[in-house]
Amino acid sequence: MQYNFDEIIDRRGTGSLKWHYSDDTIPLWVADMDFKAAPPILASVQRVAEHGILGYTKPTDALYEAIINWHGSRYGLQLTKDKILFSPGVVPSLALMMQIFTEVGDAVMVNDPIYTPFTTKVQQNKRTLVMSALKEVEGKYQLDLKDIEAKIIEHKVKLYLLCNPHNPGGRVWTADELKALLALCKKHDVAIVSDEIHQDLTLTGHTFTPFLKLAEAAGYAHKVVSLTSMTKTFNVAGIKGSMIFAKEDALIKKISQQQYLNDEYELNLFAYTVMQSAYEEGGEWLGQVLAYIENNIETTLDFLAGHLPNIKVMRPEASYLIWLDCSAYAQDDQALYDKLREAKVELNSGIKYGREGHLKMRINVACPEALLREGLNRVYAAFKGS
Ligand SMILES: Cc1ncc(COP(=O)(O)O)c(C=O)c1O
Repeated sequence: MQYNFDEIIDRRGTGSLKWHYSDDTIPLWVADMDFKAAPPILASVQRVAEHGILGYTKPTDALYEAIINWHGSRYGLQLTKDKILFSPGVVPSLALMMQIFTEVGDAVMVNDPIYTPFTTKVQQNKRTLVMSALKEVEGKYQLDLKDIEAKIIEHKVKLYLLCNPHNPGGRVWTADELKALLALCKKHDVAIVSDEIHQDLTLTGHTFTPFLKLAEAAGYAHKVVSLTSMTKTFNVAGIKGSMIFAKEDALIKKISQQQYLNDEYELNLFAYTVMQSAYEEGGEWLGQVLAYIENNIETTLDFLAGHLPNIKVMRPEASYLIWLDCSAYAQDDQALYDKLREAKVELNSGIKYGREGHLKMRINVACPEALLREGLNRVYAAFKGS
């Protein structure tokens, strides 16, 4: 079946976070796609609604099997039922991991730039935030292992929050890069939590490596947890729901006890339903949506090269988010954001992702092509006189 991603669906007035405007602004910001979810997912939601009883629900064996098969067949990550926990979201799990691996005041390291909740959750949980800037080499971000090690030693870092693949830079870290990071953390006894929510959006030519697989091979699984979800992959973020994977029994037990204490181990009925149908039947839709996204990425790169050649673009290796260096067009972060809003297009302000995001913007291209082209015209209109 061929899915139609060109359909423009009016999301105004639905409470959509992305489409929060009362005018005709085009949203190219928050990581949410403007495409209808896969028909098998929608059918599964309808089946449950038609059954009519929406009572307390537990994960079924069929759900565990769907998760195990997806991760095993796609990434060679061997899971068993007892290694999988559920959580209302990856961000809630990031906060939980601070309770698992650290105490108040302990140092937690993240990269700069990074998806904003990585920094806010560290600070809100009263841990000490230590940031290591990514290095830009030939248009790609790289981990600065020297800086990471120096700061681990200086601040006695206890936990490293890794974004794999990286948001906002779009890097799919290679197995070698991850192994080097793992070796360093192992040497200094630093725990690693790997946020892998963008794993399934890895683009052609790149290979996603589950961090847990490397950790297990290196005998370091007792200090590593991975967090992932079906929500980004299948554009079902409003459903909420995610998974926590760990390989070592004592660690799983500790996480599970803390979840019980916080009372955040259960998902709502529709989250279990969507998760199962997505992993069982969503593969074809995912293949097609990725092809559409790759086309939109090319459209965006061509447009910017032709119309705004002074914007430096980081080509993403995963996901539909593109990191743009707009420093040729602005001196001030707020003014940069405002200029685009005045042209009736919204992008994410790079500075929200850390100091390295100064004068950068993140654009989301997961929308019907016609909408994207109009959004790009507005970006051009905002900058052309500058
Ligand atoms: C890297 C990353 N982690 C987590 C999330 C959100 O996860 P959740 O909605 O499950 O809390 C996002 C959403 O954009 C993300 O990009």
